Amino acid sequence: MSDSIILGIESSCDDTSAAIIKGNCILSNIAANQAIHKEYGGVVPELASRAHQQNIIPVVEKSITKANIQQNAISAIGFTRGPGLLGSLLVGTSFAKSLAMSLNVPLIEVNHLQAHILAHFIEDANPMPPQFPFLCLTVSGGHTMIVLVKDYFDMEIIGKTIDDAAGEAFDKIGKIFDLDYPAGPIIDRLAKEGNPDAFTFNKPRMENYDYSFSGIKTSVLYFIQKEVRKNPDFIKENLNDLCASVQRTIIEILMAKLEKAAKELNVKEVAIAGGVSANSALRQAMQDNHEKLGWNIYIPKFEYTTDNAAMIAMVAQLKYERGEFTDMKTSATAKYDL
Ligand code: KG4
Ligand code: ZN
Repeated sequence: MSDSIILGIESSCDDTSAAIIKGNCILSNIAANQAIHKEYGGVVPELASRAHQQNIIPVVEKSITKANIQQNAISAIGFTRGPGLLGSLLVGTSFAKSLAMSLNVPLIEVNHLQAHILAHFIEDANPMPPQFPFLCLTVSGGHTMIVLVKDYFDMEIIGKTIDDAAGEAFDKIGKIFDLDYPAGPIIDRLAKEGNPDAFTFNKPRMENYDYSFSGIKTSVLYFIQKEVRKNPDFIKENLNDLCASVQRTIIEILMAKLEKAAKELNVKEVAIAGGVSANSALRQAMQDNHEKLGWNIYIPKFEYTTDNAAMIAMVAQLKYERGEFTDMKTSATAKYDL
């Protein structure tokens, strides 16, 4: 891999992030999170793009300072073109274009989902990178899919959710329990003190490698409504057990299809990626399958799980080597296939 220095910019949802990569080694990875959305129980697109506008210059400046490089050492600028919230994507895209123009360096568009997966090739992501072909369960607040990764830029989605994403299920069920947004990490923490077998929730019966998560949300909602009618303090008194049981159910649903795919496609290289790959029960289930099924597993470091620019810079580096540059006329896109 070349040791070119590249700036990556990520602004697809509610995190403004900038990172500097040299070869596949991350020199800095800075993120500004947007606390404002907590008050609304979810990401408000207009507020997100305004916050990106406020954050982008300080975040990029900090990434350059922290990497201890001069601006003119940057060989190219990678940015998230999509998928994501259009207003948010536009801020990163416009900024990347102006900076590329002023530094007179190439611009490189990055697919956010590819980036979650290719984060596994960052130098300190794994002791050894995954071997092709590998399976990657890509689970975030917006996406849930099993991807067969045949090469860096040859990926096939073999199964995906037909409704809610797994992260969305964590967040929406958290809302039923009156937890803050995003509830995924809170449920993970509360589940540690709970009994995962305390409650049973419906699991979907889906064809092939597809998922569905709207049923479990409804199942939890009806169950809670029924119990709260009998005892108004039901949630408070059972919060740890509720979180542990919900988490167990979601992780079992995710793992069942991943195991089916690994078995049927005869692949033993298995990775996870995206925000939900930070979940401790999912990480443990992967570890169990390493021991039980002999999988070679790839679990991202925490800083490469939720949205970050390091993964954007990694993909930009791979594209830079291939001479895949983006026209200045290119615009952001809310939908962007793998
Ligand atoms: O990848 P990401 O940062 O943004 C998207 O591209 O969507 O993922 C955010 C999602 C949220 O739904 C959040 O609740 C979930 O990842 N998440 C978790 C955990 N950490 C983040 N879900 C379960 N357990 C966690 N520890
Ligand atoms: Zn993401």
